[in-house]
This record gives sequence, C-alpha cells and structure tokens, in this order.
Amino acid sequence: MKTLIVYESKKGYTKSCAEQIAGELGKTTVIVTAKMAYKEVLDQYDLVIIGSAVYAGKVPSRIRKFCKVRSEELLNRPLALFMCGTGEEFKDSYYEKNYPQSLLEHSLEKGWFGGLIVLNQHRGITKMVLSSILKGKQELHVEKQENISGFVSSITGK
Ligand SMILES: Cc1cc2nc3c(=O)[nH]c(=O)nc-3n(C[C@H](O)[C@H](O)[C@H](O)COP(=O)(O)O)c2cc1C
Repeated sequence: MKTLIVYESKKGYTKSCAEQIAGELGKTTVIVTAKMAYKEVLDQYDLVIIGSAVYAGKVPSRIRKFCKVRSEELLNRPLALFMCGTGEEFKDSYYEKNYPQSLLEHSLEKGWFGGLIVLNQHRGITKMVLSSILKGKQELHVEKQENISGFVSSITGK
C-alpha cells in the first residue's frame, strides 16, 4: 500500500511519530512536510495520513491550508488524521476546530499520540508562558507513542 504522510513539527516529536508510522507501514511510505506536500500527486497514493501537533489550540496553518486546497483529492481517497499534544482532554475540540467536518467524517481514524514540552527548547514570551503552565518543572512528558500501532492496524486492518 503506497502511503503519503504529510506532517508539521516544530520540535521534532510529531516528526518522530510520522517516522514510526512509516516504519510500521513499510517501504512504500513517503513522508513530507505540509510545505513540500503541494508537489505530491495524491492520485498515486492508496492512503494519505495527515498529522500535526497542536499549538495554542491550533494545528499549523500550513496543514489547515493543505487540507483546504487539496480537500477534493483528499475526499477521494482513504485518509487518516493524527494529532500530538499535551492536552488529551481537548482532543475532540481540537479536531473539530482545525479540520473541515467533511474531512473528519471521511477520515478512517483520528489518532492522538500525546506530546512533550521541554522548556529549554523555547525562548522569549513562549518560554515565559510555558514556564507558568509547567509550574516550575522543566519538562512535561505525556507521550503516547504506544497508540501508533493501534492507529496503523485500525487503518490497514492488520
Ligand atoms: C507554544 C506551545 C503551545 C502548545 N499548545 C498546546 C495546546 O494548545 N494543546 C495541546 O494539547 N498541546 C499544546 N502544546 C504541546 C505540543 O503539542 C507538544 O509539545 C508537541 O509534542 C509538540 O510537537 P513537536 O515537537 O512536533 O513540535 C503546546 C506546545 C507549545 C510549545
């Protein structure tokens, strides 16, 4: 099954999830950032997976724009979505707010793979805001990469 994974990742966690999905799907998987995905002819893929982390309640505009611009093609082939973030309790509202209803209904699976925040990877006002959220801690770990296998098998049926 030829698969395209389109992702955006600021600090690398979402990228590592995309790579793990690709590892489980096998050699016929292509991974690209949303910026590079415009060059892809979606017709040649049996499955498209789109994934991103959430930042302040939003997925990056490049992902939202790609979904909007390529929605017709995306609705014409098997699609799955995944999100990364530290606020799992809000995942349903993140999906609702960030993806068109038509894509949500069309998506075979909507994964949640958790996330992590490492304060020292951030600067300036972002670091200040995150510091108050982390209440003195340097790192917040709520990774859920163990959800990836179930996500892949529910899409492939294996
Ligand atoms: C500035 C900032 C804002 C964030 N806002 C949210 C949020 O609103 N909801 C959430 O669930 N996670 C939020 N997170 C957590 C990220 O989604 C998490 O750190 C994720 O692992 C980042 O993935 P990346 O390494 O691919 O950039 C935020 C992280 C940062 C740095």
